[in-house]
Amino acid sequence: MDKKIKVAVIGATGAVGQVFMWMLSDHPWFEVVYATASAARVGLKYASTVHWVMPLEMPANIRDIEVKEFNFAAMKEAGVTIVFSALPAEVAREAEPQLRDNGFHVFSNAAAMRYDKNVPVLVPEANLETLDLIKEQGYPEKGFVVTNANCVTTGLAMGIAPLKKYGIKSITLHSYQSVSGAGYPGLSSFDITDNCIPFIKGEEEKVEKEIKKILDIDPEVYAFTVRVPVLFGHLEAVWLDFEQNVEVEDVIRDWENFKVVCDLPSTPAQPIQYGSDPTFPQPKYAFWGNPQGMVVYAGRLKKKNGKIGFLLLVNNVVKGAAGGSIQNAEAFVTRFNLI
Ligand SMILES: NC(=O)c1ccc[n+]([C@@H]2O[C@H](COP(=O)([O-])OP(=O)(O)OC[C@H]3O[C@@H](n4cnc5c(N)ncnc54)[C@H](OP(=O)(O)O)[C@@H]3O)[C@@H](O)[C@H]2O)c1
Repeated sequence: MDKKIKVAVIGATGAVGQVFMWMLSDHPWFEVVYATASAARVGLKYASTVHWVMPLEMPANIRDIEVKEFNFAAMKEAGVTIVFSALPAEVAREAEPQLRDNGFHVFSNAAAMRYDKNVPVLVPEANLETLDLIKEQGYPEKGFVVTNANCVTTGLAMGIAPLKKYGIKSITLHSYQSVSGAGYPGLSSFDITDNCIPFIKGEEEKVEKEIKKILDIDPEVYAFTVRVPVLFGHLEAVWLDFEQNVEVEDVIRDWENFKVVCDLPSTPAQPIQYGSDPTFPQPKYAFWGNPQGMVVYAGRLKKKNGKIGFLLLVNNVVKGAAGGSIQNAEAFVTRFNLI
């Protein structure tokens, strides 16, 4: 590509916004020309104002990007066509429809528009065809919003999409979710240090709604979601009940054969990687893989009384958030021949 597509990151200083800035700093198709945060940061250089929580060094070429105000005319003047949103849901609820109405192609992490009929909750490996819903939003004449799922649901969707063909009757999910999932500054250290919090507001309802929308299935869902004192990576213990008989060997083969239907820069060659070591996977592997953080790791696979059980690890801020959105934008660019 001789000319990169100009993009904006809105909410660029939060836990997810930082991952956008890190991943986009060296992207083959996209170039960040506009970044926003809350009003108090406008005019400041990114490195001087962000509280960098990523476990990787801040790329040199994003340090001097100036935080700008949320202004459609200025974004258009800067040449922005794609907007990556890492806004809190309540802010996104107002901002994202406005962005769409102003003709931008919005890829959002916020829950605000996920349940709208014409808005896809896209996980390209699992439901690439739902990208066509943007035409019902008026694309190419108008802008659109594409969302990615809540972080824990993304991991679950990846783990069970290749098994959908067996007929999923019920899903039991117990999650162990890292503190970065609550954004920055997130929880008080007093509450989470040396402790687990057995309630994440709205999370279990999101899992149930989103997994059904993403995979177009209607199983019973039994979910408990728990916050644990880990920085990055959500671990998910899953039990599935199927209509057909399924063996652990079938699951391993289906995971191995699970590839995205189109080749995208942010898609790993092997998006789900299974390990048979009984201590695998662990959140400390959250930034493993190529691209880092985009692989979902699976382990502890077993069968009991006809049910299949396993553990998954998803990097909540990368595959479960910013990386997933970037992959969605890559899928859009590829599917609509914009390169
Ligand atoms: N963290 C995760 O693992 C994860 C995973 C999937 C989806 N999500 C979703 O992704 C979104 C971002 O999450 P996060 O964890 O990155 O949140 P966060 O750390 O709280 O960051 C929010 C960002 O939005 C900006 N912002 C807040 N209020 C604003 C306002 N009124 N106007 C303009 N900008 C404003 C913040 O700027 P300041 O820094 O200046 O306040 C910051 O850049 C949320 O909708 C969340 O539910 C998060």
